[in-house]
Amino acid sequence: MTTQTPSEQDRVVIFDTTLRDGEQSPGATMTHDEKLEVAEILDQMGVDIIEAGFPIASDGDFQAVHEIAQRTKNAVVCGLARASFKDIDRAGEAIKPARRGRIHTFLSTSPVHMKWKLQKEPHEVLDMVIAQVTRARNFTDDVEWSAEDGTRTEHDFLCRCVEAAIKAGATTINIPDTVGYTVPEEYMALFEMVRARVPNADLARFSVHCHDDLGMAVANSVAGVRGGARQIECTINGIGERAGNAALEEVVMALKVRNDVLPFHTNIDATMLTRASKLVSAVTSFPVQYNKAIVGRNAFAHESGIHQDGMLKNTQTYEIMTPETVGVKQTSLVMGKHSGRHAFVHKLEELGYQLAANQLEDAFVRFKALADRKKHIYDEDIEALVDEEIAHAHDRIKLVSLTVIAGTMGPQSATATLDIEGKHMTVQATGNGPVDATFNCIKALVPHEATLELYQVHAVTQGTDAQAEVSVRLAAGDKSVTAKGADPDTLVASAKAYLGALNKLLARGVRMHAQHSAQ
Ligand code: KIV
Ligand code: ZN
Repeated sequence: MTTQTPSEQDRVVIFDTTLRDGEQSPGATMTHDEKLEVAEILDQMGVDIIEAGFPIASDGDFQAVHEIAQRTKNAVVCGLARASFKDIDRAGEAIKPARRGRIHTFLSTSPVHMKWKLQKEPHEVLDMVIAQVTRARNFTDDVEWSAEDGTRTEHDFLCRCVEAAIKAGATTINIPDTVGYTVPEEYMALFEMVRARVPNADLARFSVHCHDDLGMAVANSVAGVRGGARQIECTINGIGERAGNAALEEVVMALKVRNDVLPFHTNIDATMLTRASKLVSAVTSFPVQYNKAIVGRNAFAHESGIHQDGMLKNTQTYEIMTPETVGVKQTSLVMGKHSGRHAFVHKLEELGYQLAANQLEDAFVRFKALADRKKHIYDEDIEALVDEEIAHAHDRIKLVSLTVIAGTMGPQSATATLDIEGKHMTVQATGNGPVDATFNCIKALVPHEATLELYQVHAVTQGTDAQAEVSVRLAAGDKSVTAKGADPDTLVASAKAYLGALNKLLARGVRMHAQHSAQ
């Protein structure tokens, strides 16, 4: 038997766009520090290219790309730019400090986009492609060009644009399924067609970029690779515009587990997938669907008796990969109020967390407080606690205390004390129900225009003493943010989530006025 060594030809480059396309999901905004944290884990896990943002979009985006470019040790750092010289120059400036920097510039090529969005004739679009790639090459020799809405583009025109982009110096050609419309066979054939017809195709690497509007983003990405693409653009947990992008963890594991029929490999350290998923979920406050492939809470859970019986006899009966391969550690360590710091640190490691010393200290104090109130501390409790710690580490407004009077005799009232940038402020308010009263206290102490777009509660574990996890989405102008709060008391969790969202809006420059006179 001969062992085959993976060839460079079959290597698929992973281009992560969690910080750009992922951050474009409504409510998934991250603070500057959170973006740095995500970039660091992407770099550590072996992502080849990190699309760190869209530098022209805001100063915040520019700063994030610039600092990620400075810090990243291994990956190529990429900034996105439309087909305008201003965009491209800004992206070029942002990636300047990178050891290896890329400009990703895109332009729509489909009839519907050219007519309605660009209001340009195809020959004008073709000229713009040449101009944008040429401009980008002034900053770096690593230039990616994307044919936006590529899967709905007329083939002859697509081939002409691709050929022109390569001739102008593009080294990666991306054909995105911008609207999540294609199907695997069609997408695979599209790459085969372009690679066969474009005379200089061998001078560029082809890339897939799939959206999940019909739930086929991962299947389409893999099909594109079978058609000759060697770069997959994807995001952690599949976050992204509308229904999201192809999930990084799913494409990586599909290529790994089914290597017999998909003979491709990536450089990703799969054991870091769970950690990356948790971090992205914590900083975006986007919960991971329980039955999500690879990283969902139930991805390795076996509930039915028949399945459990099979698993006890041989895990291969119902598991096509082990939880350990994706970084889920099986554990028998039970946590409770007698568990010390060492056990807590060990548990965090098992769960895939790496906290800074001050975060660890705070998390431990909160763990002890929770253990005093709750008999059984499950892994999910610790995850909720740590996720909250990560998400709220930089909050300017914090909950100090909350007392609520609820029940049949309305109106319900709440008294809240907040720490507003180091100053304690207390107020009482009534409301239509205890949650409303709680939120009215916050509004009285921190008046703001933001509107509540989403309020969701779910239990972290089972039992009446389970922690409640509340998600809140607030919108102010064109900014929309989501935050989570967890606590055995649903109202405290609600206040934490609401404050978390307010803090995110503050971090994004939304102005609010703390009522320093309220007592
Ligand atoms: O979906 C898309 O077409 C994009 C491009 C910018 C590549 O995100
Ligand atoms: Zn996209």
